[in-house]
Parts: sequence; C-alpha cells; structure tokens
Amino acid sequence: DKPRDLAGVRLLVTAGRNAEPIDPVRYVTNRSTGKMGYAIVEAALRRGALVTLVTGPSELAPPSGATTVQVQTGLEMYEAVMARVEEQDVIIGAAAVADYRPKLRHEQKLKKKEGNLLIEFERNPDILLEVGQRKRDDQLLVGFAAETENVLENARGKLMRKGADLFVANDVSQSGAGFGTDTNIVTLVDREAEIALPLLSKLEVADRILDHVLNMRTRRSSR
Ligand code: C5P
Repeated sequence: DKPRDLAGVRLLVTAGRNAEPIDPVRYVTNRSTGKMGYAIVEAALRRGALVTLVTGPSELAPPSGATTVQVQTGLEMYEAVMARVEEQDVIIGAAAVADYRPKLRHEQKLKKKEGNLLIEFERNPDILLEVGQRKRDDQLLVGFAAETENVLENARGKLMRKGADLFVANDVSQSGAGFGTDTNIVTLVDREAEIALPLLSKLEVADRILDHVLNMRTRRSSR
C-alpha cells in the first residue's frame, strides 16, 4: 500500500470535458472521458491529500472523499477554479477545456432552414494560464499536453508560456495513450528534465505524477 505521503496537501484537479451550448437542446463537446483526472483524484485521496475535483460532464462516478464541483462550460470551470485556487497547494489541469464557445446561446431551439448554418465561436479563458499568472511561489501547477506531433517541444513551450511547474506530455496518436483508454504513455516535462514513463495504467501514471509533485515540493521547501 502507498504511504499517506500527501496527508494535508490541498490539491485541486480539473477533469473531463466541457459542453458548450448552442441552444436549449444542442451543445459542442469533445471526446475526453475524465479518466486521467479521476485517476489522479483517486490516487491522491489514497495518499491522504485534501482533494477538490472540478469536473465537466463525465460518465465516471464522482469519487467519494473529494469535494466535487460539477460544471458544464469552460467559463463555469474557470469560475469554479478561480474561486478555490487560493487555498490550494497543488493545481492539476487534466480537463480538456473547450478552447471556444458558441458566441450566441439561442434562447429557443434553432429551426432548420434552407442553406447552411454558420455558428460563430469565441475564445474561452485559458484556466491554466490564468492560474499560472496568479500563482504564489509555494503553489505548484501541473498541466497536460495531448499532442500528435513534436510532443516534447510543444509540452515544454506550454510549460513556459503558462507558467506551470510540470507538464505531462502525451502522444495521443500512440495506441494505449490518450482519450478513453485505461492506459497512458507520458513524459514528465519540468523546468529541468524530461522523464519518459513506460505504458502504465492511468492510476499508475497518476501516482508517478504525484511522486514528482511531492519531490518538487520537498526540493522547493529545502531551498
Ligand atoms: O494549450 P493546451 O490546450 O494544449 O493546454 C493544455 C493544458 O491547459 C491542459 O492542462 C488543460 O487542462 C489546460 N487548459 C486550460 N484551459 C483552457 C485550455 C487548456 O486550463 N482553456
């Protein structure tokens, strides 16, 4: 059994996808299932962390033992995170946040008409970036980069741009990695090094991420 080495550590995890409404019966979403984020929550709870889960729609059961906040849209997720970020020690962004939302949310169901339908989208806030800009020195920020090419370069770019301490880079074109699978193949990218992990269950990946976070906390507090 894992030691309760995260006892008292306050951890916020975002997980799952967003649903961005077009009208009362339609929305735009993506394929994220929430498995990676929920695995982090489960692993962290076992190790004694105080966990807040901010989750978009997911078929997974809300983990017992965590404070779970359910949201639909990227804006709701942004607000839920920002309202709770101050009291956290570690923030892990595992959600596949919608980059865009339909500019108009029609009050009534859209009727079909002749010709094409054009929907205009506007940008959602980048939650990780905003947290990175407000983050205190004693807080650690972890992001995920799902990529199909130049995986490590892209992950390192995001790490720097978003002001994160660790990025979990994920080549989603590999089988056994990415959306919907129970396993993942990731590389941990921090400011100093890159650590390639083998094919592991998402729960094992979660424990490796938490091991690394714990290491960074120890190193930081001894400086
Ligand atoms: O830029 P990209 O979407 O690839 O960055 C992925 C990371 O940023 C993930 O950790 C994701 O949860 C986070 N993110 C976010 N808000 C967004 C977009 C991405 O927090 N609007």
